[in-house]
Amino acid sequence: LGPSSLTTTIIMESKQIPTLPETVGVVGVGTIGKAVICGMMKANIFKKVICSPRGKANVEYLIKRYPGRVEVAGSNQEIVDKCKFVALAVLPKQSLDVASALKWTREHMLLTLVAMTKTEDLLKAAAPCDTIVRAVPLPCVAEHEGITIVSPKGLPFTNAVASMFDRMGGSVIAKDDAECQVLQASTCLMGPFYAMQAACNEWMVSKGIDEKDGMKYLAGMFTGVAADARAAVGEGRSFGDLVKEQTPGGLNEGCVKILRKGGVYGKYKECLAYALGRLKG
Ligand SMILES: NC(=O)c1ccc[n+]([C@@H]2O[C@H](COP(=O)([O-])OP(=O)(O)OC[C@H]3O[C@@H](n4cnc5c(N)ncnc54)[C@H](OP(=O)(O)O)[C@@H]3O)[C@@H](O)[C@H]2O)c1
Repeated sequence: LGPSSLTTTIIMESKQIPTLPETVGVVGVGTIGKAVICGMMKANIFKKVICSPRGKANVEYLIKRYPGRVEVAGSNQEIVDKCKFVALAVLPKQSLDVASALKWTREHMLLTLVAMTKTEDLLKAAAPCDTIVRAVPLPCVAEHEGITIVSPKGLPFTNAVASMFDRMGGSVIAKDDAECQVLQASTCLMGPFYAMQAACNEWMVSKGIDEKDGMKYLAGMFTGVAADARAAVGEGRSFGDLVKEQTPGGLNEGCVKILRKGGVYGKYKECLAYALGRLKG
């Protein structure tokens, strides 16, 4: 199991917060539930994962892929009865009904992956469980790519969950739901990013490049650029520094000027504000 950071026992409100247990329960095994379970398995974080019966095709896939390590419960309550650490990954509109239908205890640690549903509402639905941490992973967490937002800051369980996601690609801790939403808003640029790549490829095809060759090149090239940015930020450089590093008078500098003049970066901020508004509900 995990590194020493996960084995520290911390006291909070005179209640001992244990290290992550050997078994985790997952209620809601859809796209993100499945991805998180694959990431957990790849990092060898838990000995066993107990899945809810819903999301049948994904559960069957996981049982086949991880024999003896993934099992399915007969009901959501069976998960809560068997696991102290439960991840909730149903749709926002289902989340409060699903949580309030279950019998929780103060010993439970609930990890919510549900966007939109407020922690305060979930605390009421899952009472008397009072240890709820939010995480916002993306499907690429399955392959330990990307980074997961974890909140709120300050809870020992938050630190344990963040350490867990550190072993699955990385984590950043947000102070509270509000800060989490601001960070999360940036995930709305994933679709526009793909749309930009699609536009690049359309242009290449119009110049005679084979569509598949164009896609292969663009996916690989942008993966390299993103990896460079992550390394630079890790070394203390900023995105502004990276822009300034572009060759003076070169192609990149020229393109940044065209896009700035066209107000494209302002439009990105408009997208972020739109996404934040939607996340706040
Ligand atoms: N997809 C992402 O990239 C992403 C990223 C971060 C967070 N999230 C959040 O993760 C949550 C799930 O999103 P998703 O994309 O994974 O949706 P999804 O693929 O539709 O998964 C939802 C799963 O919940 C199951 N479910 C429904 N009612 C249930 C119940 N009563 N008990 C147990 N399971 C039940 C569904 O089972 P059936 O298939 O049998 O209906 C389905 O497998 C959402 O709240 C979303 O905000 C998603």
